[in-house]
Amino acid sequence: MPIDVILLLAATVFQPEIPKVWTEEAVRELEVPLAQTELSPRHISEADYYGIPERKVYRTYPVYHPDREPEGYWQWLHEREPEIAFDPAQLRTREDWIAAGDRVFHAPVSFGPVFFGEREVRDPKFFEATGMPVAADGTVPFASWVVREKGKVELGSMGCNTCHTRVLDDGTVVPGAPSNNPADRQGARMLGQAARFMGPEKILDQIRNFALQFELPGLKQDLNRRARTMSLDELIAAGQAIPAGVTARAFTSMFVPPQIPDLIGVAERHFLDHTGLVRQQGPADLMRYSTLVQDMMGYARYGDAEPMRKPEPGKGARHSDAQLYALALYLYSLQPPPNPHPFDDAARRGKEVFEKQGCGSCHAAPLYTNNKLTPVEGFEPSQADRKKFNVMNRRVGTDPRYALQTKKGTGYYKVPSLKGVWYRGPLEHNGSVATLEDWFDAARLRDDYVPTGFKPADAPTHAVKGHEFGLDLPAQEKADLIAFLRTL
Ligand code: HEC
Ligand code: HEC
Repeated sequence: MPIDVILLLAATVFQPEIPKVWTEEAVRELEVPLAQTELSPRHISEADYYGIPERKVYRTYPVYHPDREPEGYWQWLHEREPEIAFDPAQLRTREDWIAAGDRVFHAPVSFGPVFFGEREVRDPKFFEATGMPVAADGTVPFASWVVREKGKVELGSMGCNTCHTRVLDDGTVVPGAPSNNPADRQGARMLGQAARFMGPEKILDQIRNFALQFELPGLKQDLNRRARTMSLDELIAAGQAIPAGVTARAFTSMFVPPQIPDLIGVAERHFLDHTGLVRQQGPADLMRYSTLVQDMMGYARYGDAEPMRKPEPGKGARHSDAQLYALALYLYSLQPPPNPHPFDDAARRGKEVFEKQGCGSCHAAPLYTNNKLTPVEGFEPSQADRKKFNVMNRRVGTDPRYALQTKKGTGYYKVPSLKGVWYRGPLEHNGSVATLEDWFDAARLRDDYVPTGFKPADAPTHAVKGHEFGLDLPAQEKADLIAFLRTL
C-alpha cells in the first residue's frame, strides 16, 4: 500500500475507547445526594444491569405533516424490510460514530401512542388544534415511523429527539435544542378524549398509576402525592397547563414540571439537570446519565421504599455501552444554529450592563455559567458538601419546590449557561416565563402576576419569585442587556 494511503487511513481510522457504563463504583459517585440524604437513590448492581438485554436500534423514517407526505410514501413504508441501524463493527471513523450516535438519539423507545398516536399525526386537524410545529421540509421531527416487522409501520417516539429537538420559526430543525413539541398538553388532551369512550374511571386509574412514579415515600413534604385525590378533570387540567418546552419527564413532577434544557454545549457542564443531580466529568458520565433517565430510574431504590421495578434477566431493554458512547460523541458534536442577532451598539451597551450588574459572577464568560450550584431556600448544605459540589454561598431565591420535593431534589439549582438563550424558552427551571423580556419584568414578583410560561392549572396567577438581578434597571438598559444576551 502506498505510504500516503497508509497515512490517510491512520488519520481517519478512529479507535473508540468505550468506557464501561455501569460499574458500581462509578454509579455510586455519579449523583449529588438528595437534600433528604437518606432518600438518595441506590441503583442496581453491575450484574443486574448487564443482564438486561441490549436495545436494537432500527432504521427510522420521517413522519410528515399529512399534506406534505410524498406520494405513495405510506405504501412504500409498508414494503420496507426491518433494518438494524446500529452495528459497531461497521463504524470506522469518528464521523461514523457520530452519525451512529445521531441514530441512537433518534431511536424510539416507545412504539405506539404517547403524546399522540398514528391517528393524530395523519390528521391535518391535529396540527391546527395543537400548533404542533412542522419543519420546512414538512416533517415532524419529534417522532418517526419504524418498521420492526415487515408490513407493520409503527409510530416511534420517546427517543431523545421527542424532547430535545426544536423547530425554529423559519422551519429549521435544531437537534439538541429544547423541544417545542406541545407534548404534555396534547397528551392530556388525548386522555380527555379517551375518557369519553373508555370511561372516566379507567383513565383516572391510568393517570394515577402514571403519577405514582413521581412520589418519593419518606419525603417530609411531597407535592406529587396530590395526584391521589385529584379528580380526572383536575388531573387533565394539570397536564394541559404544561406548555411546549416544559415536560413532566419520568421521575420529575406533573405539578412543578421541569423546563427542557439545551443539550448544545452540554460537554462543558459539570452538573446535569436543573438541580445538578448528576455530575459530569466526561463522556462516561453523560452515557450514565442517558441510560439512567431512559431506562434505569425505575429500578432505583429510594430510601426504604420498594423500587418500582426489579431487574429480571432477559427482561426490559437498555442501550449498549457502544450505543451510549456513540450517543455521547453525537451530543458533544452538536452546534447551535447560526445566530441572527448581530453584536451591534445595543448589544455592546448591554455587555457593559451585564458586567456592571455582576451577572458574570455566576454566568461567567465564555461558558456563561460558573458551573456552580446554589442552595435553595430551606436547604443548608454541610461544609463538606459545599466543597465537594462547588456550592456558592449566594442564593437566588427561585421556587424551591422542584429542588426539595421531587426525586431530583438535591436542594440546589445549578447556574444555567446563557449560551443559546436567543432560541430557547420558556425560561427558569419550570419554564415559568416565556421570554427574556418577561424574565426581566419586575411585575413577575407580584402575586397577581399571570406567568407567561408554565402556570399551574390551580394557580393561574402567582409570583415568579427570585433571581431579582437586573429587574430594576431603566428600560433602555434592560433592552440593551437583552440585546446582548440574544447574541450569546
Ligand atoms: C420526555 C422528554 C425527554 C426525553 C425523551 C429525553 N429527555 Fe433529556 N431531559 C428532559 C427534561 C425535562 C430534562 C430536565 C430534567 C431536570 O432538570 O430535572 C432533561 C435533561 C437532560 C439532560 C441534562 C442537561 C442539563 O444541562 O441539565 C441531558 C444530558 C439529557 N436530558 C439527555 C437526554 C438524552 C441523551 C435523551 C435520550 C436518551 C433524553 N435526554 C431524552 C426531557 C427529556
Ligand atoms: C448569584 C448567581 C446569579 C447571578 C448574579 C445572576 N444569575 Fe442568572 N441565574 C442564576 C441561576 C441559579 C439561575 C437558574 C434559576 C432557576 O431556574 O431557578 C439563573 C437563570 C438565569 C436566566 C434563565 C436561563 C434559562 O435558560 O432559563 C437568565 C436569562 C439569567 N439568569 C440571566 C442573568 C443576568 C442577565 C444576570 C445579571 C443581571 C444574572 N442572570 C445574574 C444565577 C445567577
